[in-house]
Amino acid sequence: MTDVDNSGLLAENDVPRHIAIIMDGNGRWAQKRYLPRAFGHRAGVKTVRKIVEHCAKHGVEVLTLFAFSSENWRRPKDEVSLLMTLFGETLQREINTLDKNGIRLRFIGDRSAFPTVLQNKMQEGEAQTKDNKALTLVIAANYGGHWDICTAFQKIIDKMSTGELGQQAISPQLIKDHLSTSDLPDPDLFIRTGGEERVSNFLLWQLAYTEFYFTPTLWPDFDESSLDDAIASFKSRQRRFGHTSDQIINKTASF
Ligand code: IPE
Ligand code: IPE
Ligand code: MG
Repeated sequence: MTDVDNSGLLAENDVPRHIAIIMDGNGRWAQKRYLPRAFGHRAGVKTVRKIVEHCAKHGVEVLTLFAFSSENWRRPKDEVSLLMTLFGETLQREINTLDKNGIRLRFIGDRSAFPTVLQNKMQEGEAQTKDNKALTLVIAANYGGHWDICTAFQKIIDKMSTGELGQQAISPQLIKDHLSTSDLPDPDLFIRTGGEERVSNFLLWQLAYTEFYFTPTLWPDFDESSLDDAIASFKSRQRRFGHTSDQIINKTASF
């Protein structure tokens, strides 16, 4: 639970434990420059590197980045295949640096739809970095909140059919325990770049009490100071989780 100072605001040093980002606006960034959308996606990868490093420096525990949604297959074939290539290349190129910097890499989403070579790279990347402690970088790839919840229900139903779980076992905690993020804290801060103010089937269950931050900045233009602005906004908010403001200020809130 987040520490709260006497003013009822989050303590100055309280950086969000988990930041989840919808990295949106790559295509528009390129189009503004009369460039093909691919240039925007390539520029977006550079931003990923900056933001990962900055989060690690700030002591953020988990950074989840929405890289490809379960709906993004609807894009033109050329764009989908460019995104797959870029994903594979980036993974290959960055894995050793991530490892050297103590970053633990994880993927969430239905990876069975990806080419086998890519699935293998994802698995190798996770294995190579599994004991790292600095920052957990979660890449949501072919991810959808609906998929996550359906998969959790499938796992629960399987356990019910073998008798491992009874029907009365259903609870918010049980559902959380079967999501792809079961071992991670829920996001404290959600950021969406690119100006749209929607969730687009990201971490639906996990965002129940997350603070939302929307910025018109396009993802390739988002930088360390943009992230600092988002964190500053987060720090200025009072998280009540259903309590009253007085309960938070007087520290009588029980969580
Ligand atoms: C986000 O940028 C990247 C992915 C969805 C892979 P977009 O490609 O959605 O960029 P816009 O929204 O078209 O500008
Ligand atoms: C959400 O962005 C998915 C990712 C950033 C990977 P989109 O650009 O696909 O979202 P919509 O379609 O505008 O809602
Ligand atoms: Mg978009």
